[in-house]
Amino acid sequence: MDQALARVRGWIRAADRLVVLTGAGVSAESGVPTFRDAQTGLWARLRPEELATEEAFRADPPMVWDWYAMRRAMVAQVQPNAGHQALAAWAQRHPGRLTLVTQNVDGLHQRAGSPGVLALHGTLDQDRWLEPPRACCHAQPPQAGRPPRCATCGNLRRPAVVWFGEALPPGVLAAADEAARRCDLMLVAGTSGVVWPAAGLAHAAAARGRVVVLNPEPTELDAVAQAVLRGTAAHLLPALLAEGDDA
Ligand code: APR
Repeated sequence: MDQALARVRGWIRAADRLVVLTGAGVSAESGVPTFRDAQTGLWARLRPEELATEEAFRADPPMVWDWYAMRRAMVAQVQPNAGHQALAAWAQRHPGRLTLVTQNVDGLHQRAGSPGVLALHGTLDQDRWLEPPRACCHAQPPQAGRPPRCATCGNLRRPAVVWFGEALPPGVLAAADEAARRCDLMLVAGTSGVVWPAAGLAHAAAARGRVVVLNPEPTELDAVAQAVLRGTAAHLLPALLAEGDDA
């Protein structure tokens, strides 16, 4: 492993354009459960694919709103970990070299101080109107467990995250796609690689540059990687990006 780490550190030093694509595993050591590993709590009974959709929200707005309220409250109680911090510190030491693309909606990269994070799936801390807002649309203060609504037309506020079946924010996806196509090296950390178009970014990067997967478990993206480092994000990212290894 030390040899493999040293080799990847060399690739990072040499990379003019580095992209890091992260998923839920990067926040696991902060205490945020991943989507497809977790077998506890709400996730054991309710699959994200059944909750994180517009259909689910329309069918039962309070249930879905409550699920997000619970996730917001959980995220507010946790802190960025050594992996988030190593990425933020590296970006600050090397302005303009790193594009950080995340599927996470928890805002932990941003809280760690990473600049210009491309949040493919939005962020938990914002909401927006379900239907295009009319002139009457002003949100009433939320009642416990219910989404805020417009008292006149009944339009509801919904979390401003990307649900299954929805398009990613076009500007964010385009910027991530361009960075992936142009990069020398992409680190893919803490994602199962099963959700597209995010996973497609690793394929785009592999067409021109190197891809390295950082994950304790096998992933769908191991096949496009030049190197696979088995370990956790809070261990591997600092080991790869620590000061002293810089160009
Ligand atoms: N460090 C690094 N990776 C880890 C760690 C850790 N400490 N713990 C778990 N992992 C890995 C798992 O092995 C798995 O490969 O993190 C990955 C988590 O996978 P998913 O739960 O599928 O999360 P993610 O890939 O981010 O999901 C993508 O799916 O539900 C949607 O929109 C949601 O953005 C999410 C998308």
